Amino acid sequence: MPGVSLVGSGSACLTVQLSNDILSQRVDTSDEWISARTGIRQRHIAAPDDSLTTLATEAARHALTMAQVGAEEVDLILLATSTPDDLFGSACRVQVALGATRAVAFDLTAACSGFVFALVTAAQYIRTGVFKTVVVIGADVLSRWTDWDDRTTCVLFGDGAGAVVLRACERDRLLGFELCSDGSLNHCLNLAYHPEAVPLVGDISVQKGGFAPITMNGREVYKFAVSRVPEVIEKALFRASLTTADIDWMVLHQANQRILDAVADRLGVPLERVISNMARHGNTSAASIPLALDEAIRAGKIQPGDLIATAGFGAGLTWGAAIVEWG
Ligand code: COA
Repeated sequence: MPGVSLVGSGSACLTVQLSNDILSQRVDTSDEWISARTGIRQRHIAAPDDSLTTLATEAARHALTMAQVGAEEVDLILLATSTPDDLFGSACRVQVALGATRAVAFDLTAACSGFVFALVTAAQYIRTGVFKTVVVIGADVLSRWTDWDDRTTCVLFGDGAGAVVLRACERDRLLGFELCSDGSLNHCLNLAYHPEAVPLVGDISVQKGGFAPITMNGREVYKFAVSRVPEVIEKALFRASLTTADIDWMVLHQANQRILDAVADRLGVPLERVISNMARHGNTSAASIPLALDEAIRAGKIQPGDLIATAGFGAGLTWGAAIVEWG
């Protein structure tokens, strides 16, 4: 059975920065409140002429360059996003923008767990021998769907895109994973469609609604994250026949510094082994893990051969972990 290796990473550079102080001019909040409760100091926001497609393409292009893989070699593009440019999917737009002429491309939606779910999905195609080269992208423009007058949610989110290149190899570097869903908690975090009945003809009506901005029960999501994330990492480690002592780095979904600290504490992982870019980016949903990974790789923190425990969690509710060796 072919194995999976991670051979390149990349991310998009967003130029618009929105600091807590600036945001406080719009909504009743403060840098002190936001940074104490979340660790976030600023977030990046897509400019009006950016699109999910352009950001995802930029991240993928950087990942392919690092991997020294040509776009025409890519077999599959998996785009994890909840904020597509087109509800029919944005992955094909990325495919053409990249020039990945041979690749099949599709979107995968699992909110802030999207990158981990896509990584594991991509690995299955490689392990079965169907595909040899896959680009996995996590990208979201949540600013489109943020209620900028709701201080309980708008301070948390930012926009971004990150990507990795996976290749078939002999020794499998995806050492273990575990994915979970619990739809009974769906109401805790939503970006939901609200149908409105519009008469069509006779007694037949059609839905002509729209998506309402993000709603969240912050306390429930916090409780969910600090209990489920350590558990799912331990399960993934168990499948890999490893323990937390073997992990070089934890790269978790960047939702809240307090969540990262609590997870590290429960697993007994020292904080210096926990990658955090929360202060600069906030919660960028599906982008947050590949973005944090790419920054740590380019900064020389994560080196080839390092063992990484990664975990995503969020709306669905969904959560999942993967244990990977970089390089
Ligand atoms: N600025 C200032 N005050 C704020 C505020 C803001 N941005 N948001 C809420 N408050 C106020 C509340 O109105 C409340 O005031 P009150 O006590 O007078 O009613 C007070 O701060 C405490 O609010 P609370 O919601 O209890 O805060 P909290 O300690 O639970 O922190 C979160 C809120 C959102 C930071 C926290 O619940 C959290 O991080 N949850 C997880 C969210 C998450 O990660 N979601 C994405 C997962 S993918």
